Amino acid sequence: MTETGKDRNILITGGAGFIGSHVVRRFLKEYPGYHIYNLDVLTYAGNLENLRDVEEYPNYSFLKGDILDEQFLKQIFEKHQFDGVIHLAAESHVDRSITDPLAFVRTNIIGTVNLLNASRDLWKENKNNKRFYHISTDEVYGTLGAEGLFTENTPYDPNSPYSASKASSDHFVRAYGETYGLPYVITNCSNNYGPNHFPEKLIPLFINNIIENKPLPVYGDGKYTRDWLFVKDHAAAIDLVFHKGKDFETYNIGGFNEWQNIDLVKLLCKLMDQKLNREEGTSSKLITYVKDRPGHDLRYAIDAGKINKELGWRPSVTFEEGLELTIDWYLENQEWLDHVTSGNYQEYYEKMYKERNVSQQSISK
Ligand code: NAD
Ligand code: TYD
Repeated sequence: MTETGKDRNILITGGAGFIGSHVVRRFLKEYPGYHIYNLDVLTYAGNLENLRDVEEYPNYSFLKGDILDEQFLKQIFEKHQFDGVIHLAAESHVDRSITDPLAFVRTNIIGTVNLLNASRDLWKENKNNKRFYHISTDEVYGTLGAEGLFTENTPYDPNSPYSASKASSDHFVRAYGETYGLPYVITNCSNNYGPNHFPEKLIPLFINNIIENKPLPVYGDGKYTRDWLFVKDHAAAIDLVFHKGKDFETYNIGGFNEWQNIDLVKLLCKLMDQKLNREEGTSSKLITYVKDRPGHDLRYAIDAGKINKELGWRPSVTFEEGLELTIDWYLENQEWLDHVTSGNYQEYYEKMYKERNVSQQSISK
């Protein structure tokens, strides 16, 4: 439990990314008494356009910097005397982790330990009302078979370099709690979707490809299952856990919303046909089964009972509502899509999907 009523300096890392930008916006609006510092190095996934509507807020500051830069962290922690850290900065895409695991070791593990050190040192004398909040993923638990759900007690069993790096960072956070008494909370959340999602992940990539009439590369047999949560519901859960969660605890966050990839893609195609005034069945013709992802986890599903019972959190929108909001956002923000898909994106797309034999060309209507 941390106080909301007084002025506090809060550091949010990765605030220019997908989830981070929703968290920054929510905190700026809900807590005008806080000063929000958004620390982000602006990798390909970081985009200040995500925060255009709030960047003039008097209680907002952007700090461009790298969580791998210990000196920089030391300086900003001393200067701004943060009361809380909400840590989202990470390399976040599984496919990239297969191509370049070390980038994930650096940012996700070493970067997290750097932040833990800076927080431990700053709060050494006084831990009262201080909190290190580490944002993690359900992928640390590995994969489920057809049955069962991940709980907070499920043993860690990561399968991808991404999930292994997140699992490692979770262990460091826990260890700093045990060893140095650093007050922390961790949440492990399922797959998010919504506005500002970089189009390398399934839903925004497929929305973009449908708009451009490009193939929709479904990995393997498409029967992999994920639990999807609307990003603003994740931001609401983060707000709640940051303020009302208990120190040294982990909470799972999920959407109560499991979908096999192929069923999700078919629903997306149907909604996109309606939004684009295309004949029903047009977009689903773009579905192309491609070479599978190595080590592909079969199924993720979250038991979010603890956060529900202890803190009263539940998702506020259904999947259909959230998907519609998401599609509308992408169609209304074509300029955002154009900006993020120019330059290096094309290179990434060609490399990643050429390996899977996906044609780069739009399919003529
Ligand atoms: P994202 O890739 O959209 O954003 C990551 C942000 O971190 C970017 O703005 C990037 O510039 C910044 N960043 C990366 N390396 C940095 C560094 N060295 N120093 C400073 N900033 C750096 O990621 P996201 O999807 O918004 O995920 C945010 C967090 O939530 C991650 O920790 C991720 O593991 C976790 N998470 C994501 C999901 C999901 O579905 N996207 C689900 C559960 C948990
Ligand atoms: P993704 O959005 O990358 O999230 P994660 O791997 O972290 O769950 O992928 C979601 C699911 O969609 C996953 O089972 C992999 C699959 N997928 C495809 O079938 N095709 C694609 O082009 C992408 C990016 C993902």
